[in-house]
Amino acid sequence: MTTGTSVRLDRTSVIYLNSIRALDGVSLEIDDGETVGIVGESGSGKSTLCRLLVGLIRATDGDVQVVGQSVQQALKADSWAFRRQIQMLMQDAVATLSPRMTIGGLMREAVAIHGLDRRETEARIHTLLERLRLPASILERYPHEISGGQARRVGVIRALLLRPSVLVADEPTAGLDVSVQGELLNLLLEFQREMNLTFIMVSHNLHVIKRVTQRTIVMYLGQIVEDAPTETLFERPAHPYSTTLLSTNPLLSAGGAANAIILQGEMPSNARPPSGCRFHTRCPVAQPACAQTVPELTRTETGSLVRCLFPYSLELSGAHRKAEVPAE
Ligand SMILES: Nc1ncnc2c1ncn2[C@@H]1O[C@H](COP(=O)(O)OP(=O)(O)OP(=O)(O)O)[C@@H](O)[C@H]1O
Ligand SMILES: [Mg+2]
Repeated sequence: MTTGTSVRLDRTSVIYLNSIRALDGVSLEIDDGETVGIVGESGSGKSTLCRLLVGLIRATDGDVQVVGQSVQQALKADSWAFRRQIQMLMQDAVATLSPRMTIGGLMREAVAIHGLDRRETEARIHTLLERLRLPASILERYPHEISGGQARRVGVIRALLLRPSVLVADEPTAGLDVSVQGELLNLLLEFQREMNLTFIMVSHNLHVIKRVTQRTIVMYLGQIVEDAPTETLFERPAHPYSTTLLSTNPLLSAGGAANAIILQGEMPSNARPPSGCRFHTRCPVAQPACAQTVPELTRTETGSLVRCLFPYSLELSGAHRKAEVPAE
């Protein structure tokens, strides 16, 4: 199997019609078969990045390439061929299932459009139903008759039926019970390994990110502020924003709330981001230079990429670092 670059963004920006700069100059490369987590507060641009990758929205500036092709050119040339390569599990799994079709209809529709063999498809649907522990009777049901957890599994089947090479999952376990979350994540990881999927997953849950991903991208106000091997990030975050995110996660923080570093103030508007470093208005260790100088994404000695003039100036306490994630 050849290894290459699955996803490449080069100084890509997305400005919505309301002037919100949801992504601003994002550069990023993801290799075939990598599992990458995306974290950051609400509104930092995570879903925008996902939607951009699958071609649901266009970049205002810069280029987006998936599996060696520019997304917009690939969509123009053969949109179905492109959509087979990259599939997305949406943040709102239930709302994305058309209410008037049965689950079986929805699954078969996804495949029929792509002209895949019918018998092979039926066999694959049943194998996937079993793997995801869904009863075959679910095929006759309508989306409003199934639970949120089932809707997410149905979404997984629809995405995997097409054997994509890239899977983008936007909060795939949000709103599910912890036990159901763990099961779904295990399955996603199994599929990732079997199919050598490039797996990009957004999650607010750092516990999930730590368990599933090899690399983590931290976003703040439409920019990547840190991009690091997951283990390195959790051991020694370089950006003060990453440190605060990790410190406030109860599952990772052995010391509990006492060790949490609480950020002051609201996230500023991404229509008018702060000067200099965007995080300086809330950064617990900001210095005067931070309001003036725009930091570039720079490689540190641990191999992390960080957008900060004073990396490692806010350290995790020992209690956070030693906290182990319980094995499922
Ligand atoms: N269709 C849209 N039109 C205008 N603004 C939008 C649109 N979609 C998102 N935004 C804005 O763009 C910014 C980034 O939104 P995005 O949905 O990418 O954030 P997110 O990181 O996924 O947040 P969450 O964690 O809440 O899902 C936000 O300020 C949001 O309000
Ligand atoms: Mg989102």
